[in-house]
Amino acid sequence: MKLHIALLPGDGIGPEIIQQGRKVIRAVANRFGHELHEREALVGAAAIDATGNPYPDETHRLCMESDAVFFGAIGHPKYDHDPSAKVRPEQGLLAMRQRLGLYANIRPVTTFPSLVRQSPLQSHLVEGADFLCIRELTGGLYFGRPQGRSEDGNTAYDTCVYTRPEIERILRLAYGYALQRRKKLTVVDKANVLATSRLWREIAREIEKEYPDVETEYMFVDNAAMRLIQSPKSFDVMVTENMFGDILTDEASVITGSLGMLPSASIGLHTSVFEPIHGSYPQAAGRNIANPLAAILSAALMFEYAFRLPEEAAAIRQAVAASMENGIVTEDIAPAGSPSYATSQVGDSVCSHI
Ligand code: IPM
Ligand code: MN
Repeated sequence: MKLHIALLPGDGIGPEIIQQGRKVIRAVANRFGHELHEREALVGAAAIDATGNPYPDETHRLCMESDAVFFGAIGHPKYDHDPSAKVRPEQGLLAMRQRLGLYANIRPVTTFPSLVRQSPLQSHLVEGADFLCIRELTGGLYFGRPQGRSEDGNTAYDTCVYTRPEIERILRLAYGYALQRRKKLTVVDKANVLATSRLWREIAREIEKEYPDVETEYMFVDNAAMRLIQSPKSFDVMVTENMFGDILTDEASVITGSLGMLPSASIGLHTSVFEPIHGSYPQAAGRNIANPLAAILSAALMFEYAFRLPEEAAAIRQAVAASMENGIVTEDIAPAGSPSYATSQVGDSVCSHI
């Protein structure tokens, strides 16, 4: 198969982890006989420095022309200390989500046997936890208008907006995943307070009837935050709106023991984007110490969701597991007293298993 991939390394550790992901993608293409076409473009602070725009039109064009986008990370500390900065790298991410129509962000949370003891939660709670968080990504507070300040500057407002088509689309996607898994869907909202959440719940109650094989559970977001920690194994597929999903997925990421392990897929109307959920980790940039496994596992999601090549995806996951079992891991997940390896060594090890 011909695979056209747009590479958007971005900022901080983005370039070095994307480099490891590329090696793994190449190894898979060689083993399975695919023809790779890779092109690189600017995004984030790197794009602001070069063009003044964190998501330049040229980058957008490349994304639109590709079968999938492999994304590193964006964010640079020089913008964090300057809240008045006119353009921020994060705006590039939001613009990309909007322009590519990335309406669903999928974050699988799975535990790795060799990492269970590193979770801040007790092993018996996390062992075997395996669920999908599906976050709506182009609506809600992030994009609702009006947003801003009053003239005197002393009042600020954001608007949470959801329309029926947006809600139906994400719920149907979530049911689709639930059907392929353990057939349980948890709809997370704040319907006891918010009008948008009440619309979510009303629509979910209608759609629920079309999926009699799936058990639908409704949960308020505050309760969901508690249950994630108390009994992560009780979840199969969780679906929620943009801001709740942002918060809950960071929370869910610690269940597995390291933020450095979690991949994500953003399903788009035009093309889909695959990226690790961790950020640009500027303190580690250029030091060859960052954990490349979240990026490598994001490449596995790319083979599965964008190219519909599940065997290739499985080969990557098996190689990651084998490499971890051999102890070839970066310092963030190396057990105390065991040696740790460089970013590039972990990438090489995964490639050798493929
Ligand atoms: C994420 C990030 C982004 C978000 C930021 C960087 C805008 O936290 O992808 O979860 O809030 O969506
Ligand atoms: Mn976030």
